[in-house]
Amino acid sequence: MGKTMTDVASPAIVPMAEVYIEGFHRALDTVARERRYLAFLEAPPLPATRDFVRSMIERRNPQFVAVAKDEVVGWCDISRHERPIHAHRGTLGMGIIPAYRGRGLGQQLIETTIEAARRQGLARIELSAHADNARAIALYRKVGFVQEGVERDAICIDGRYCDTISMAIIDKANRDAWRATA
Ligand SMILES: CC(C)(COP(=O)(O)OP(=O)(O)OC[C@H]1O[C@@H](n2cnc3c(N)ncnc32)[C@H](O)[C@@H]1OP(=O)(O)O)[C@@H](O)C(=O)NCCC(=O)NCCS
Repeated sequence: MGKTMTDVASPAIVPMAEVYIEGFHRALDTVARERRYLAFLEAPPLPATRDFVRSMIERRNPQFVAVAKDEVVGWCDISRHERPIHAHRGTLGMGIIPAYRGRGLGQQLIETTIEAARRQGLARIELSAHADNARAIALYRKVGFVQEGVERDAICIDGRYCDTISMAIIDKANRDAWRATA
């Protein structure tokens, strides 16, 4: 039988910190190994994950984890693009381990992370989702993302092609403020 609300602790959403890196790596690996949702089929090695997280913290990129019973059960991050002409943009990634899905945690995580991105002045947040990931696409639409395109046969996992959907959300106030300084 599936887990119910009483089986799992209520997670806290907290900014990423050094102490969560190994837990984040485990959660990323768990979701990647499902071979259905992410651009990875397993997590990158721990040292590479550590470098990624440290660089995100250094660059003050929004990055949050959901923590329950001292275990990282989900994450959401937005990487600001590097080139000057793209520096108003960020790319969002997220995931939640299976037992904690479908109870609103995704919405809490993404709203917290988008709010942090707004405070950092990002004008455009974009992402890519597998076209058959109905739950993720429903969540992204719900918080304001708009579909911009379809990449046909963009991924191939275990001999099966799947399209990917590109989506983005524009923050109009940050868009105007950015233009004034760019
Ligand atoms: C995608 C993910 C982050 C969503 O988080 P979540 O906590 O499970 O989602 P929520 O409980 O916040 O629900 C999101 C919405 O999807 C809807 N939904 C749930 N299952 C659905 C399904 N099978 N089909 C369509 N919509 C679905 C929910 O109804 C909800 O909308 P509502 O509250 O308006 O009804 C999470 O499920 C996850 O990590 N999945 C695996 C990894 C992944 O897909 N990462 C994203 C890669 S782009």
